Amino acid sequence: MRAQLERDFERFGRELPRDFAAHVRERYRVDLSARYLGFPLPHPIGKGSGQLSLHESQLETDHEAGLAFVVLKTLIAQDATGAQTMRAWATHETKMEIERRRTGDRDGWTVTWKGRGWDRSFEEYLTLVRVGRDLTGSGEMVVVPSVKYHLPVLDEPFHDAEYRFTTGALAREWGASPLPLEKDFSPTLAGDARSDERAAILRWLAEVPARIRAGAAVRLGVKLMNARFDDDFQRAMVEGTKGADALIVFNRLFDAEKGVAYGGWELSDRNLGVLGSLAPGVSPGSLTGTGNVCSGRMIVAYALRGCESVQLHTAFQLPLSAYPSSDGSRTQRVLHQMIFDPKDGLVAVLLELEAAGRLARRDGELKFLDLVDVDH
Ligand SMILES: Cc1cc2nc3c(=O)[nH]c(=O)nc-3n(C[C@H](O)[C@H](O)[C@H](O)COP(=O)(O)O)c2cc1C
Repeated sequence: MRAQLERDFERFGRELPRDFAAHVRERYRVDLSARYLGFPLPHPIGKGSGQLSLHESQLETDHEAGLAFVVLKTLIAQDATGAQTMRAWATHETKMEIERRRTGDRDGWTVTWKGRGWDRSFEEYLTLVRVGRDLTGSGEMVVVPSVKYHLPVLDEPFHDAEYRFTTGALAREWGASPLPLEKDFSPTLAGDARSDERAAILRWLAEVPARIRAGAAVRLGVKLMNARFDDDFQRAMVEGTKGADALIVFNRLFDAEKGVAYGGWELSDRNLGVLGSLAPGVSPGSLTGTGNVCSGRMIVAYALRGCESVQLHTAFQLPLSAYPSSDGSRTQRVLHQMIFDPKDGLVAVLLELEAAGRLARRDGELKFLDLVDVDH
């Protein structure tokens, strides 16, 4: 199998077949099936919300490559008059820099960017949602909108009109089935004065899901931020989120001095540390990991801490020379490396766990989701 993996790595680096998960199942008897927000997926790799899901063409490239799911860029909610309490997040900023970020002896990457949420019109977002709805309906790639709604300071009421109008409009565009939706708590929010009070954050997490649901039937994922407090508070955020179907854990760290969000190994160290210390069953919903997912080995690390899938962003923005493949879109190159790398790819690491007696075959197959279920 090792020799086979070397050969697949070599040839798929020139051209990755869209149905690589079926190939892995047939050739290695490894079932990569995963889940995100209740959707069954052929494998666990999706794209986190950001600058790489702004345009229909980006969705087409991801669909062609065989990505399992994509979260659209975060829309800033508005009420029926078009007013946005979180308008400060609807800024236009195009310049992004991909930079190396070293933690101890580990080399990682981070994207530095001063922008925030969706900066085009509400109608243009609805158009993108329609494309996403059709792709999701085809069963070939799940596409999920993301929204940032009004978040009040402690003694302020919620501006419910924003919740109702925005959720209602997205749900109408989506059609008959419940709208899948992520609510983003971003690192720039973590760095904002609104987040100075722990009680204010816990109030948001307890109340926001119900306010979103009042606007329409949704399958709701709450993407938690890394707050500027300690790990105990991070755990309190997980336990204190009420009424979410899934948690996305955890958005990037915030560098208050530079005023920017960052990722890399510090992010995955923190996320995995907190996830590993959660008492079983405390999460209100299923878990999806995000943060420095740079290899299949890292996907396994998140899965062993309860994550049924992962959302990547930075990995899709590296210089072409950083990928082992010689051809293909960045999405194909990432998938090729994450799945087939003979040392740190998902197939290699699952075979390694089998050899170490930590994962057993069922009905002759190694199953990715068994990693999640083993400990949780
Ligand atoms: C440039 C950039 C923009 C992002 N914008 C959003 C956003 O609008 N909404 C959101 O929920 N997450 C956003 N993220 C967070 C990513 O979706 C992802 O969760 C995070 O970067 C951690 O994954 P990574 O280490 O693979 O990049 C953004 C990340 C980057 C780098």
